[in-house]
Amino acid sequence: MTKAPARARNSHVWERDKFDHYVEPEWIGNALFGALDLPVGTVVLDPSCGWGRLLRGAQTAGLYALGSDIVPRWNDKEAVNFQTVRNDRGVLCLRPSLVQADWFASGDDWCPSTAPGWREPQVVASNPPYDRAEEFLELALTRATMMVVLILPLRWIAGDRRTARLETSPLYKLMPICPRPSMPPGSAIASGTRVEGGKVDFGVFVWLKGYRGAPQIEWLRKPAVARGRRVRSA
Ligand SMILES: C[S@@+](CC[C@H](N)C(=O)[O-])C[C@H]1O[C@@H](n2cnc3c(N)ncnc32)[C@H](O)[C@@H]1O
Repeated sequence: MTKAPARARNSHVWERDKFDHYVEPEWIGNALFGALDLPVGTVVLDPSCGWGRLLRGAQTAGLYALGSDIVPRWNDKEAVNFQTVRNDRGVLCLRPSLVQADWFASGDDWCPSTAPGWREPQVVASNPPYDRAEEFLELALTRATMMVVLILPLRWIAGDRRTARLETSPLYKLMPICPRPSMPPGSAIASGTRVEGGKVDFGVFVWLKGYRGAPQIEWLRKPAVARGRRVRSA
């Protein structure tokens, strides 16, 4: 069994993972692509896709998913088993196109694939490595042709320097995630450690290229079914 990373004493924050492999709860990908309601077949690239949980959400919404990561985590046994994914039309999805690549590489090296969609993804959507999230965003705004969707700590909407940049960016929507998600390292999940009870609030930030209005707020709520409750029929 994989060794779980230590938590600092009296702290609810996990010790830093080398490449920031923190994993969002599975329901978030489905809920966010459901809420974005993009046209079927839209090309979505997750350039730090890890185990592929957001890609699974994209495929379930009928989108064309591409993924890359500096570490090929899709080979881990905890990674999404895409063979079992059906989109909302009940169609069995194929494994998305996945390549090992460094998003921060210069030139064209961030994209070693020549398969369709790679060089000009319509949407870049990711739970990025947090220590380089600002740099990640700037590259995503250059490389996506339509939209950038990032899961980020909600504290991003505060602070002089960062908000000055946000104000001049095409930030279209902020979706605070409710309830507060747990975002443990993949190694903690792999070791079977109990991983509930996040202490940091996160939101999905959506940039729409060319957008000039004020950003909207829309809460991204965990569906009742995913909370383990029965949904009453209307
Ligand atoms: C927050 S995790 C993403 C979790 C993912 N959604 C999942 O389902 O596992 C961030 C990911 O960024 C990757 N990463 C870190 N630095 C990177 C880089 N320079 N280029 C590409 N991916 C990178 C890490 O390997 C990690 O898998």
